[in-house]
Amino acid sequence: MNLFYVTTPIYYVNARPHLGHAYTTVVADVLNRFHQMCGRETYFLTGTDEHGDKVVLAAKAEGMSPLAYVDKISELFKALWPELDIEYDQFIRTTDLAHIKVVREVLQKIYDTGDIYFSEYEGAYCFGCERFYAERELVDGRCPDHKTIPEVIRESNYFFRMSRYQDWLIDYINTHPAFIRPERYRNEVLAFLREPLEDLCISRPKSRLQWGITLPFDDRYVTYVWFDALLNYVSALGYPDGALFEKFWPTVQHLIAKDILKPHGIYWPIMLKAADIPLYRHLHVHGYWNVDESKMSKSLGNVVEPLELKSQYGTDTFRYFLMREMVFGLDSNFSDKALIQRINSDLANDLGNLFSRSLTMVHKYFKGIVPKGDRASESNLDLKIKSDAGRAARDYRAAMEGLAFQKALMAIWEFINRINKYIDVTAPWELAKRKSQRKQLQIVLYNILEGLRIIAGLIYPIMPRTAQVMCEHLGMSTPQNFQTLEDLNVWGKTQAGIKLPKTITLFPRIEENKLQSSSQETTPSKKASASRKPDIPMDVFQQMDLRVATVVHAEPVPRAKKLLKLKVNAGEERTVVAGIAESYQPEDLVGKQVVIVANLKPVKLMGILSQGMLLTAAEGDTCKLVTVDGPSKPGTPLT
Ligand code: ME8
Repeated sequence: MNLFYVTTPIYYVNARPHLGHAYTTVVADVLNRFHQMCGRETYFLTGTDEHGDKVVLAAKAEGMSPLAYVDKISELFKALWPELDIEYDQFIRTTDLAHIKVVREVLQKIYDTGDIYFSEYEGAYCFGCERFYAERELVDGRCPDHKTIPEVIRESNYFFRMSRYQDWLIDYINTHPAFIRPERYRNEVLAFLREPLEDLCISRPKSRLQWGITLPFDDRYVTYVWFDALLNYVSALGYPDGALFEKFWPTVQHLIAKDILKPHGIYWPIMLKAADIPLYRHLHVHGYWNVDESKMSKSLGNVVEPLELKSQYGTDTFRYFLMREMVFGLDSNFSDKALIQRINSDLANDLGNLFSRSLTMVHKYFKGIVPKGDRASESNLDLKIKSDAGRAARDYRAAMEGLAFQKALMAIWEFINRINKYIDVTAPWELAKRKSQRKQLQIVLYNILEGLRIIAGLIYPIMPRTAQVMCEHLGMSTPQNFQTLEDLNVWGKTQAGIKLPKTITLFPRIEENKLQSSSQETTPSKKASASRKPDIPMDVFQQMDLRVATVVHAEPVPRAKKLLKLKVNAGEERTVVAGIAESYQPEDLVGKQVVIVANLKPVKLMGILSQGMLLTAAEGDTCKLVTVDGPSKPGTPLT
């Protein structure tokens, strides 16, 4: 098939773009460029998801109208992608009129078939997740994400009859092994489907939520979350009769992380089936980026901003790191240290050195003019480097097609190492000493340049700028910005006789002690005002071990703007990580008496084990510590 259509999730506009969003969108760009290299016509869709409670709350917190707010955040996403050299074809917003029209048409279509019905529902509702939870989904009666006890809500709403399609979907997934990839996520979806599938609530009464798309068959309601968001993948193409839809929809491949597997692996295929739209080809699911071993979150203040990484390290190096470090499908850890190591060893040392070393030799021995190769006089070593190139291109292609970016890069780097070895063994500096070996020297340098040309071609989807610079320095013009995979399978495309520009440093080394420990988050996080919590019995409260503790030592936590690491004496010494850095300086805390929850299960925050929690009064971004009214012995229990 010579067409390729790739989508990213449309991102919520209740938060600024971060490392996770950048990862999925870079993957989409890498795939898009790779498929172009394979000679395919491609279409790449991304965008923003702009309706719902969370957006209204976020807008309120900023003192803006929802519309002004979504315009602002959506623009941040839109402006970020070109900064990361992401070349999408379309940026869709769920507030686009054309999208809204399609959502209403599809709702009406499914309503007419009887798969949407009206019913009263009472259930456990988590406001954080904006959804009802089935009893069995709760962990100890609490929302698995927010750890809060959901409120019981009774409401009349519209429901999508998903249960009807359960057996069909199981059968479809079983008979289409590549539908959801990697396999672990396919198995996860099949495991969900072993439980009875409940019908999906798809509406909210306007009395509770205004910021949504009005249902075509009942204007007292708006549609809610997934029926709006998922349909972007078809509305963007002008469904039902747009030319783009007809052309690209049959080839669609969705990219998501594991957090939204259920909507994409279950709701979406069923929605498509119910609306009589052909199913997507593949759903590719990746894992989560953590930061210094902790989940990225606003409340920890460890959210990694892509633009800061770009300005500190450069776009191509950032893209390389993302693709090299994460095994697609598994979780991965981000740290500046790992990034700097990759830049220094893989990029500056391996590739960068090979490149400048090779061009320097061409300048030294041939005045910068590409020497002529000579097939008739090639040695076994010369033949071997050609077959190594062929193997690298084959392994790379297979890995890229399977979204194994890490493996694809490893195939390239193996080839880089082989060229380095080829140089060491053939020793051009020795050949240069004898006139009689001039021909051999020509062959060797020509082969090295050919190897570099192939490397430039292979790295293009991941590091397009570096590929371009390498090509220019190898005397090539690549009008469409890349070499096709076919070009990379043919040996001998480098033109002899061309004068090459002086060599350059592709990747400057980064000194590790330049590592900055500043946090990446720049937006103030405003907490929604605390909602009233349900009553608890006395014995539940009495399970809490509250104690007076004296702060012995305090220091900042690198890369987490909001956290301080405290040593406290609570009868015995322990470490507590507290989110109070925006309100207190470490030196102001030493000697202060605070109140801690001493029997909270220890948790790791930014790699540090926190053995307790400080009590504070929190107002927006600032907080005040709870203290005792006079000196107390450390460890004194609160009653
Ligand atoms: O879920 N690691 O939007 P969203 C890797 N609007 N990827 C991450 C990540 C992390 N730590 N955090 C986020 C929504 N992502 C819905 C989607 S689609 C019809 C509607 C990426 O802003 C990853 O792609 O919460 C994940 O699936 C997506 O952002 C969730 O983005």
